[in-house]
Amino acid sequence: MADNIHPIFDTLLQRQDREKRLGQRSKVLWLTGLSGSGKSTIAEALEKKLFEAGYFPQVLDGDNIRSGINSNLGFSVEDRQENIRRIAEIAKLYLHSGVVTINSFISPTRAIRQLAKDTIGAADFVEIYINTPLEICESRDVKGLYKKARKGEIKGFTGIDSPYEAPLQPDLEIQTENQTIEQSVQQLFEFLLPLINHT
Ligand code: ADX
Repeated sequence: MADNIHPIFDTLLQRQDREKRLGQRSKVLWLTGLSGSGKSTIAEALEKKLFEAGYFPQVLDGDNIRSGINSNLGFSVEDRQENIRRIAEIAKLYLHSGVVTINSFISPTRAIRQLAKDTIGAADFVEIYINTPLEICESRDVKGLYKKARKGEIKGFTGIDSPYEAPLQPDLEIQTENQTIEQSVQQLFEFLLPLINHT
């Protein structure tokens, strides 16, 4: 009874329809790095730059998500994993609505990032390692958290008494140490354009 079968995917709005409307290919950029490495700063500046260039990006950031949907989670291994699991699911929704999502989370272990990659799909997951040495993150200590971690006032702080595993084969590594924020953002922008250009 082929005549009576009406596959629903024929009538559903497709990801590619939304991408076409937005004039871009959607991707999930996954920025990983230590606290204070510059992830959020780079993510925000990149978002602005993409928007000004006519793209439609959205930043998802640790402190924001953790004060909203993930406000019930802490920093144990299990909670970090649940944090990233939910974020990956959210990013996937954005991905399918055609948006270029810029995710900025420590996502400290290879297993956690693999979980995100598996959820999102390898073809759409772009891993960016924001490589800033611990000494520099700690000397900046923008939020004063390293100081507290050293004094033992925060337990399980990434890089101090909780592990950070650097990516082995990131799609892009940004060494922030010897360049300005603008240069880091430019490096990421230029890398990204061919991936999101709608032709
Ligand atoms: S993740 O490990 O689960 O990916 P996420 O990126 O969401 O971390 O949150 C990291 C931010 O939470 C840090 O930038 C810092 O401001 C804050 N924070 C509070 N406690 C900790 C901790 N124990 N380890 C790391 N970051 C912490």
